[in-house]
Amino acid sequence: MAYTSNHGVQLEVLIDEQQVQERVKELGQQIAQDYQGTNLHLICILKGACIFLADLIRCLPLEISLDFMALSSYANSLHTSGEVKIVKDLDSTIQGRDVLIVEDILDTGLTLDYLMRSLQARSPKSLNICALLSKPSRRIKDVRATYIGFEIPDEFVVGYGLDFAEKYRNLSTISVMKKNE
Ligand code: IMP
Ligand code: MG
Repeated sequence: MAYTSNHGVQLEVLIDEQQVQERVKELGQQIAQDYQGTNLHLICILKGACIFLADLIRCLPLEISLDFMALSSYANSLHTSGEVKIVKDLDSTIQGRDVLIVEDILDTGLTLDYLMRSLQARSPKSLNICALLSKPSRRIKDVRATYIGFEIPDEFVVGYGLDFAEKYRNLSTISVMKKNE
């Protein structure tokens, strides 16, 4: 489906719908194999990971449970610690549970580094990350995601949950955003 933007923004498809869907299916199979016999607890990081989560869990023939967390990074550029604010915390405890964080993109790693430390302190049985996208060239913190959908170059991407100023989350593709200046 062609996408019409009102704002003189050009979107170039980087990963098309079929490629996304195939990769999500593969990740689902891999996760299902690795977590066989467990009660996997998935934590979706809002809002960017919601579309990915919705597709991923339908590829998981496991007994799973879900929770949601919303984070915001401090806009203040003096804040180089990568500390993030928890805007919405989990509804239930993760103590003793097998937890998988589902995130849209691993960029500098500051967000997930903070989140991993904060969730590890709540004593889960296991704690891993599944990120749809990763930009390895941007990494500041050495965060390891057990599952990564696609490694992408240092470009700003939107679609399939990822936004620019809250727009473009509804694209079925992952597209590079270019501004027409
Ligand atoms: P990090 O802390 O630098 O790893 O930032 C991760 C967060 O930045 C993601 O959860 C996204 O919300 C946002 N982000 C990073 N790169 C992009 C992008 O290319 N498009 C949209 N959001 C992005
Ligand atoms: Mg995000």
